[in-house]
Amino acid sequence: MVERNCREVKVREVRFLGTWDEPSDFVELTLENPGWESYRPGQFAMLRAKLWGLELPWGRPFSISRVDAETVTFFVQVVGRGTSRLARLRPDDVVIIWGPLGNGFSAPPETPTLLLAGGMGIAPFRGYIENHPTPEFLHLLFAHRASIDFYPYSSMSQKVRADAVQEHSADDLPDIIARIEAAMDEYSGGLVLACGPTPFLRTVQAHALKKNIRAEISLEKTMACGVGACLGCVCKDGQGKHVQVCARGPVFSAAAVQI
Ligand SMILES: Cc1cc2nc3c(=O)[nH]c(=O)nc-3n(C[C@H](O)[C@H](O)[C@H](O)COP(=O)(O)OP(=O)(O)OC[C@H]3O[C@@H](n4cnc5c(N)ncnc54)[C@H](O)[C@@H]3O)c2cc1C
Ligand code: FES
Repeated sequence: MVERNCREVKVREVRFLGTWDEPSDFVELTLENPGWESYRPGQFAMLRAKLWGLELPWGRPFSISRVDAETVTFFVQVVGRGTSRLARLRPDDVVIIWGPLGNGFSAPPETPTLLLAGGMGIAPFRGYIENHPTPEFLHLLFAHRASIDFYPYSSMSQKVRADAVQEHSADDLPDIIARIEAAMDEYSGGLVLACGPTPFLRTVQAHALKKNIRAEISLEKTMACGVGACLGCVCKDGQGKHVQVCARGPVFSAAAVQI
């Protein structure tokens, strides 16, 4: 299973999107399609540049942002050694890619669906919108701190109803949380999907449970193997049992996981 999903592919393009004052670079990384005929938006891949050698032995997990016949695209925010090296790749460098991994989001047709994205959590929703059978039922609400130009928001907002809200400082948080909760209430008869940092997901989960709203959340955990073997990414399910986020998720029903 692992071998079948593991391929070496060449980098097609690394598009620099900007530097944030954290400091943190943002890049769009496009690789050759490793032979994937399909994937489910919300799935992820483990990426490891071949030239890393033994210095960084483990791949890093990234949401699959979009796939076409020729290429697979990811959005990478630099936070440490692996992401910084991925951002410095050049065309024709070789990347080892495992995937598609994990389960992905539900995409029921003709169901009013709210996409809640926090920061880089917007990445999987690009492919979600492109692949959805009835995109006119989708609404994207995007909360971000860095410049909106560093994310694929503008192309997505041309395809579905979309709103963005920027957090300039912690003072903005109460308003942003109120916007998220009001949007969730509007979609209480449909479906809410969320991807973003853990505090963002906690807000979504708490409101979903309080109002009994059907919601799915995509968890971010540090991962090493990405395929359920190392137990590096465990969290607890609704019954308190340990589950591997890479193999059982990363997408969970909001009621079925502790974060
Ligand atoms: C399913 C999944 C999908 C993801 N999709 C994206 C994406 O589309 N774009 C993107 O930029 N990032 C994404 N991430 C986060 C990305 O995997 C981490 O930022 C990356 O692994 C960090 O590697 P590093 O070597 O640069 O950092 P390290 O040097 O390993 O760590 C630097 C810092 O980042 C933190 N960190 C490490 N791994 C993670 C992680 N998995 N999640 C959150 N923080 C982490 C560490 O605690 C540390 O503070 C995703 C993570 C998961 C689990
Ligand atoms: S990353 Fe190894 S079990 Fe999930």
